[in-house]
Amino acid sequence: MWRFLLLGLAAGELPRKVLLPSEVAANASAKCLDSSPAGFYIREQDPSKWVIFLDGGGLCIDALDCRRRAATTHGSSKNWPETWDPEAVPFSTGLSSTFRDFSQVFVPYCSGDLWLGMDHKPRLIVGDLQMSGHRILGAVVEHLVNTTALRRSSLLIFAGQSAGGIGVLHHADWISSKLSSLSASPRIAVLSAAGLFFPADWPVLWEEFRLGMEWPVDNFMAKWCHLIEGSFLHEGCVAAARAAGRAPSTCQDVSRILPELKADVFLMQNQFDQYQVLHLGLCPASTCSVGVPATSAPGRYLALLGRLTNATLSAAFQNNSRFGIYAPSRFDHTDDLMQDLAGTDHSISGVSFKDAFGHWLSGAPTRFVAASCAGLPCPSGQEADARALIV
Ligand SMILES: *[C@@H]1O[C@H](CO)[C@@H](O)[C@H](O)[C@H]1NC(C)=O
Ligand SMILES: *[C@@H]1O[C@H](CO)[C@@H](O)[C@H](O)[C@H]1NC(C)=O
Ligand SMILES: *[C@@H]1O[C@H](CO)[C@@H](O)[C@H](O)[C@H]1NC(C)=O
Ligand SMILES: *[C@@H]1O[C@H](CO)[C@@H](O)[C@H](O)[C@H]1NC(C)=O
Repeated sequence: MWRFLLLGLAAGELPRKVLLPSEVAANASAKCLDSSPAGFYIREQDPSKWVIFLDGGGLCIDALDCRRRAATTHGSSKNWPETWDPEAVPFSTGLSSTFRDFSQVFVPYCSGDLWLGMDHKPRLIVGDLQMSGHRILGAVVEHLVNTTALRRSSLLIFAGQSAGGIGVLHHADWISSKLSSLSASPRIAVLSAAGLFFPADWPVLWEEFRLGMEWPVDNFMAKWCHLIEGSFLHEGCVAAARAAGRAPSTCQDVSRILPELKADVFLMQNQFDQYQVLHLGLCPASTCSVGVPATSAPGRYLALLGRLTNATLSAAFQNNSRFGIYAPSRFDHTDDLMQDLAGTDHSISGVSFKDAFGHWLSGAPTRFVAASCAGLPCPSGQEADARALIV
């Protein structure tokens, strides 16, 4: 009876905050921008199945931007609440929630560096703040192995969204060597949501496109990421770049990592990533929106991103059928994808995200690409009529 009650309580438990002990944070440099200790939220359930989910939230692009960020929960752990929203990914409890009975870990993003920074201490160049995302990840994984059942688990989904989706791709092969160095060897599946920064030949700037130029900004990723120059990058990509006489920093672009990945990777990516249109391509939201005519300049601009995204995803899949792909034809960044993960959203042609992901986890090649609405994003709801494809 008591046991039953206790288990009942545990199942409804709120995800609780764990800050890294100060000596661990100091020794490992596992600290947020403002040097407060990093940490995570956790709800332990089935000890054999784990998800570690990295949050996103852009990156800081100059010292002033970093300083602003350091005063928020995206740059400091000082004001993190004691518990996390139990309905937010990865904790969501709905029946078709992807990680429903998993032991769940959510790692807030507080380093402003796409999880790649390797600073040991604050740097003047970022306003006397530190970018230590890679070190946070190392210490969090080690602390989990030290203090939870993760060491004995048989499956780990290593996931992230947006900046976290970029972070997991860079660390997709690192995570298995890290875990085996700690004597843990779960099967690892990497899940990147909205982490395709960028499809090959993107970003094209809207201002240039409307004047008739369709080529991408040269080396955009390196410029965007200039504050994290010299940070951690996918090891296999760096080795391939060196062998080919390219600068290792070219590996900041995710499309360069895809051919080098050894891990099993599932990509969740909207065909029309809104962030890449509005915030990187710099097309105003009033101009680039769902419903623009296909022949108008904004219509052609959206269609170009959709085609390039499709092309990058399908080239990756053709080269390596272990890539799982889920690409709705929506104009959104991560909100819709988080709903799909939480299981609160619609299915596409009767297939939910959980079905597609489960199909892939069971070992079947899975390429689930929704039909677009004549090359453009589908208005919300209409996608249910689209023909989707699982191979
Ligand atoms: C401190 O860090 C070093 C290397 O980074 C590691 O070998 C050592 O175990 C750490 N010590 C503690 C107390 O965490
Ligand atoms: C994990 O445990 C080892 C051995 O007790 C300790 O040296 C290390 O500092 C711990 N690491 C973390 C991140 O808790
Ligand atoms: C496909 O594989 C070839 C040979 O390994 C490689 O050169 C190419 O870059 C890969 N393309 C993609 C898109 O992964
Ligand atoms: C992406 O590919 C799918 C499957 O081939 C196709 O139905 C869809 O319309 C394509 N999207 C775009 C934007 O071209």
